[in-house]
Amino acid sequence: METGTIGIISAMPVEVASMLGKASISRTDRIGGTDFHVGRLCGADVVIAQAGIGKALSAAGAAAMLCRYPVSSVIFTGIAGGVGDRTRVLDVVIATDLVQHDYGFQEQNGFRWSPEFSGTDGYSVCDGALVRLACEAAAETVGPGHVFTGRIATGDQFVASEAYVKYLQEQFDAIACEMEGAAVAAVCEQYGVPFVVIRCMSDKADGNATESFEKMAGTAADNSCRIVMGMLAGMR
Ligand code: ADE
Repeated sequence: METGTIGIISAMPVEVASMLGKASISRTDRIGGTDFHVGRLCGADVVIAQAGIGKALSAAGAAAMLCRYPVSSVIFTGIAGGVGDRTRVLDVVIATDLVQHDYGFQEQNGFRWSPEFSGTDGYSVCDGALVRLACEAAAETVGPGHVFTGRIATGDQFVASEAYVKYLQEQFDAIACEMEGAAVAAVCEQYGVPFVVIRCMSDKADGNATESFEKMAGTAADNSCRIVMGMLAGMR
């Protein structure tokens, strides 16, 4: 696979910590309150940014990155809540596509999802070659039985509700939920830059989600970092 600079984005410090520990950083630029670390990691030119939690900050970080650096692909790495029965805590989901689950109309009868204002069908599709590379690296890292591909649902909410996680499964056929992926994906689409979102499950987005998140976030975030590093090594 041909590589230029690979842009790596995450939401929380723990989601980039082990990569920054291994990377050789030549420069750090602060843009709009976010640090962009420029250097080499696993034989690839990279720019790494921990852009913050939620759709607004992650989109702002992605836009700044794509404006300022010659990024040929974007990898989002981090943790998520598992949706449905297929995935367990510490399993990995590689997104095939992403949707903003909180985008739409608030009406008399409640919320109705609709992509109408976006001028799109609401689904952002990940790059096939990056998805394949991510799956290979994930299988090597956590074992093939723990790697799933499918739709990720993104919204500005930490989901810790049986009823809502069931809605995400039924409405979108999602297999994971998080707070940034679809926002970064939408920005990458606007810039015409291929992207993939890699998430390791810290919880099941249910009534036990907060407790599980607190216990598993570090290990899950690190698994996702190791997958990204495997991908970079495979791109050489
Ligand atoms: N990230 C990790 N777990 C999550 C959850 N349950 N909801 C949203 N984002 C998450």
